[in-house]
Amino acid sequence: MFLTERFSGRLALDKGNLVDIPVSTPNKDIRLLELIGQYNLSTNSGTESGTKIHKTASFFKPMSSSAFCGTCHDVLLYNGFRLEEAFSEYKRSPAARKGITCQDCHMGVQHGAFTGDKESNYKMDSIAVVNGKPMPPRKFTNHMFPGPDHSVIHPGIFPHNDEAVRDEAEDPATSKGLATIREWLTFDHEAGWGTKKFEKTEWKRVKKGGLRTPFPKRWKTRAERQKARRILDKQFELLDEYMKARDEVLRNGFHLGEVKVIKATRNKGIEFAVEVINATEGHGVLTGFIGERTIFL
Ligand code: HEC
Ligand code: HEC
Repeated sequence: MFLTERFSGRLALDKGNLVDIPVSTPNKDIRLLELIGQYNLSTNSGTESGTKIHKTASFFKPMSSSAFCGTCHDVLLYNGFRLEEAFSEYKRSPAARKGITCQDCHMGVQHGAFTGDKESNYKMDSIAVVNGKPMPPRKFTNHMFPGPDHSVIHPGIFPHNDEAVRDEAEDPATSKGLATIREWLTFDHEAGWGTKKFEKTEWKRVKKGGLRTPFPKRWKTRAERQKARRILDKQFELLDEYMKARDEVLRNGFHLGEVKVIKATRNKGIEFAVEVINATEGHGVLTGFIGERTIFL
């Protein structure tokens, strides 16, 4: 039942510590314990050295089924209002009839499309680097989940990066994070703080007796602004990687038909119509939170 149908209810979380709770995997080949010696891992919950890892893994077949995604990607309100329907749409789709799953389109080698065959749809690759050593290659499922959403918040704060953000309660001397969220929000990355160009101009102007930029206390020194910039450069690379993937999903969802000119006049411009085509067989386009999705062509 669970493998194909939507269900709603409480999702139980297993209580306990990391080592004693089995990790769930859709992979039948469970070789967790064999790897412990090779990767400096430990299944001891005490203070023994080694990166902690679950003692056992348990096979969890539903994880690779569409219904697994449907537990969240079908949102019904208490009054019966259907807010998001990705899964219900999928259930009536050509993809579902052909046995193509959400995972096939959203976790494979392409973002938002299936290659047409389950083998080539996933690459064989190392899924993690553990203590500096890559794990042996196996079926690689991409967990980026790009979609129409994109980040609108300060790039120091997102993507999550523990070298960037320090908790307010943490000691700055021992924390890995450079600044608190509050401090990042005062870092004007758009003005170019910490870049070679900005710092050079600033230095030259001040040397000539010009006004110093009124930096907040946290970013007063050039060295701190440069540290922040080094982190931001990496953040922008990640955001860029995401935006490319996002573009791919959307291109696999929206195709345009021929442009038909209805009326062309010298003074009033051109009136035209263009067909917007749903290019995916997975569900509607738009899908998901369509109530708040506006598309500009
Ligand atoms: C525990 C709940 C949960 C499960 C299970 C889940 N998702 Fe999501 N998913 C979310 C939330 C929350 C978001 C972010 C909010 C949003 O964009 O709707 C999200 C975002 C996404 C996005 C990006 C959407 C965007 O707007 O950019 C895609 C694509 C996606 N999920 C696909 C899947 C697929 C495929 C599966 C199954 C393998 C899955 N999800 C399972 C909760 C879930
Ligand atoms: C045949 C390929 C295919 C299948 C199968 C498929 N999708 Fe998609 N999905 C796409 C494409 C292409 C888009 C981009 C179009 C869009 O944004 O509406 C997309 C967009 C999405 C989004 C982003 C919409 C939003 O508002 O956040 C979510 C979430 C999502 N899919 C979830 C799912 C889930 C859950 C399933 C399975 C029940 C599924 N998809 C099955 C191709 C597919």
